[in-house]
This record gives sequence, structure tokens and C-alpha cells, in this order.
Amino acid sequence: MSEMNKDIEKILFTAEEIEEAIEKVGKIITEDYRDKNLVVIGILKGSVVFFADAIRKIDLPCECDFMSVSSYGNAAVSSGRVLINKDITTVVEGKDVLILEDIVDTGKTLAYLRDHVFLSRGAKSFEICSLLDKPSGRVAPVDVKYKCFEAPNEFLVGYGLDYAEKYRNLPYIGVLKREVYM
Ligand code: IMP
Ligand code: MG
Repeated sequence: MSEMNKDIEKILFTAEEIEEAIEKVGKIITEDYRDKNLVVIGILKGSVVFFADAIRKIDLPCECDFMSVSSYGNAAVSSGRVLINKDITTVVEGKDVLILEDIVDTGKTLAYLRDHVFLSRGAKSFEICSLLDKPSGRVAPVDVKYKCFEAPNEFLVGYGLDYAEKYRNLPYIGVLKREVYM
């Protein structure tokens, strides 16, 4: 029994459910991106666990790169600020960009990256694949074309998602007990 489990209110998605959902999404992406010039970009750090699993279910030649942005800091509420800590080195002009993200909440992060980074650098197309989509939190107009799960309006951790940089290594996605962050 993991020592981290005591901070988890309930498990939302088990490791097995996640694996199954990623396999399904990977198959759809593989079909959609045949004969395209795919660049898969993971948003650090939250997407790393999902990224590693998802790219192995995308059965196509593709380039991979990472970008690190911050918008949340250590708070459980979005600040709306988007800061690029680490940029990609891949040239995206004329290519089909697919972002892999852990969770889309307000959408501010990805709306900013779409408009001010990828489209302004001449990407041919821009789509988002997210492990979780939290539509109740949406503020910016962002369309998550590929998603594994819809998330409730609660603070989730595990499978890459953190609270104050912890819990990323939980193999499942769970709801964090409010007393941990309140
Ligand atoms: P937004 O869509 O711009 O609000 O930002 C999404 C980012 O906020 C995600 O990539 C996560 O890093 C973080 N985030 C949003 N909701 C949660 C959550 O429930 N748990 C952990 N991180 C979250
Ligand atoms: Mg993130």
C-alpha cells in the first residue's frame, strides 16, 4: 500500500482503465495522421507519464519534442499566467502539431500556445490530445479533439498530475483530499 494513498479521497481511473483509453485514442490518432507530417509535443511536466504511453500507441513516424510552461505554480487555482520555461527546438512550420497534455482546465495555457507559438510559427495544423478534459473549468476557447477521460470539477493527482510537485508517480488518477491543499 502506497504511503501516498492516505491523501487520496477516491480513485477515479485505474491504471488498467487508463491503459485501455490510451490504446483507443492512439488508434484514432494513427488513422487521422496517416500521410501527415506529425510532430508530437508534450507539455512538461504533467504530460510525461501520458506522453510515454501515448506515443507508443501512435503507430506512425513522428517527431517528438517538449515544452515547459507554468501557469499554476503551487496553487490549486489557475493564475492565468503562461510562462515559457523551456521551448521546443523542432521547426514546426508546415507540420501537423499534436499537443499531448495531462489535463485541460481553463484552456488558457493551450489557447496561448496555439495562438502565440504554434500558429504564429506556421504550423499547418494544431490539435490537442489530453489525458483529461475538465470542460467545467473552461475560460478560453480550446477544443480538445482527442481525450481519454472527462474530469469532474475536482483537484486530481496521479499519472503525471501533481499537487505542489508531488503525486505524479501514482499509477492511477485520484481525487486529492481537500484537507491536503485547503
Ligand atoms: P489550464 O487549462 O490553462 O487551466 O491549465 C491546465 C494545467 O493546469 C494542467 O496542465 C495542469 O498542470 C494544471 N491542472 C489543472 N487542473 C488540474 C488538476 O485537477 N490537478 C493537477 N493539475 C491541474
Ligand atoms: Mg500541465
